[in-house]
Amino acid sequence: MALSSISKLNWAAATNKSIHHHSDSYFKKRIRIAAAQSSGGGMAAEYEEGQLERPKWTGETPLSRLVGALISFKPLYSLLKLGARQVLISTAEKTSIPWRDMTNEILDSDVYKEKDAIEDSSIVYPDYYLNPFHAYDEGNLSWLAAAEAEAATMSMVRRAIPNASSLDEANQIVRGNWLQAIETHHNQYSGYSSIQDILDIGCSVGVSTRFILDKFPSAKVTGLDLSPYFLAVAQYNDKRRNQGKEKVKWIHGNGENTGLPSKSFDLVSIAYVFHECPERAIKNMAKEAFRLLRPGGTFAVTDNSPKSKILQELSPVLFTLMKSTEPFLDEYYLTDLEATLELVGFVNVQTVLTDPRHRTVTATVPYS
Ligand SMILES: C[S@@+](CC[C@H](N)C(=O)[O-])C[C@H]1O[C@@H](n2cnc3c(N)ncnc32)[C@H](O)[C@@H]1O
Repeated sequence: MALSSISKLNWAAATNKSIHHHSDSYFKKRIRIAAAQSSGGGMAAEYEEGQLERPKWTGETPLSRLVGALISFKPLYSLLKLGARQVLISTAEKTSIPWRDMTNEILDSDVYKEKDAIEDSSIVYPDYYLNPFHAYDEGNLSWLAAAEAEAATMSMVRRAIPNASSLDEANQIVRGNWLQAIETHHNQYSGYSSIQDILDIGCSVGVSTRFILDKFPSAKVTGLDLSPYFLAVAQYNDKRRNQGKEKVKWIHGNGENTGLPSKSFDLVSIAYVFHECPERAIKNMAKEAFRLLRPGGTFAVTDNSPKSKILQELSPVLFTLMKSTEPFLDEYYLTDLEATLELVGFVNVQTVLTDPRHRTVTATVPYS
């Protein structure tokens, strides 16, 4: 595949259609109503599911095997990796996300000393975490990955809502509906008990953590991640935004086995982490969340939806690019997350499409 043809792709235009332009047949298809209809006045939105259980380019289908074979051919993989990266940067900059400026600002800053303060040298990284990932040879264990993470997050949000007129508007949908689904679930199943202690597992550079804090401003919020590089950026930005004081407690740890005390949180959130993990890590993190939550506490996972019509219908070029930088996508889509949570002991397991690409799965730790 020629690199030039990849970089010319308009990612957003090629992958998204607004669900607001319905045809009559639209109404005959299965629709989920986002949980954003709380009494808090959140926006009600409808997002369309595809006909399949999961994208046809995952699992043991001929198409999936073909993509797998292409990716395992090293010279092609290197080209794809480069192409995927170019598409990411150029589509971000086309939607006014100053990718390179944001990256350089972090790389030229004092961020480096934060890593020494936050790094726990006793951490043993799980094998899957040491793979090349997202087109970075050192995966998430690098300064470049950390410096680019916020721009990449913004880009993901813009891709999810391509018709939004600004990043803020896209965030209001993607992040707003996710947090609204959590609040609605907690109010419904935990009797409006207040959320005082929150853990954001896989907090990366702290973007999800910031949104959580804005939604629940009186809660004590902890962000935990395996990458000391990402956490260094999170802590650096937290101090920079809050006149030197940190609003969040940042912890270098493994979400599969945090070492934090049992029953010490009212909400454990895991946002956009599971599609980067093998099934065993997903199961371990679900078990760990169950241990960490108090009875009545809420667990919330937001990530790609296997049922998303847009993801099911991605063009072959785009899903090949996507799979080339996301080694565990297949395992993620093949994992029955709702059944996993029930097996772990969670009750009230609910799933809603909170935007055209992503689902939010919420669950409760029973009182007895
Ligand atoms: C896409 S990022 C998450 C983005 C962030 N939560 C947000 O919504 O903006 C995925 C993160 O999961 C982290 N991660 C992956 N496996 C982990 C594990 N076992 N424990 C803790 N963090 C993990 C990675 O280091 C990475 O920062």
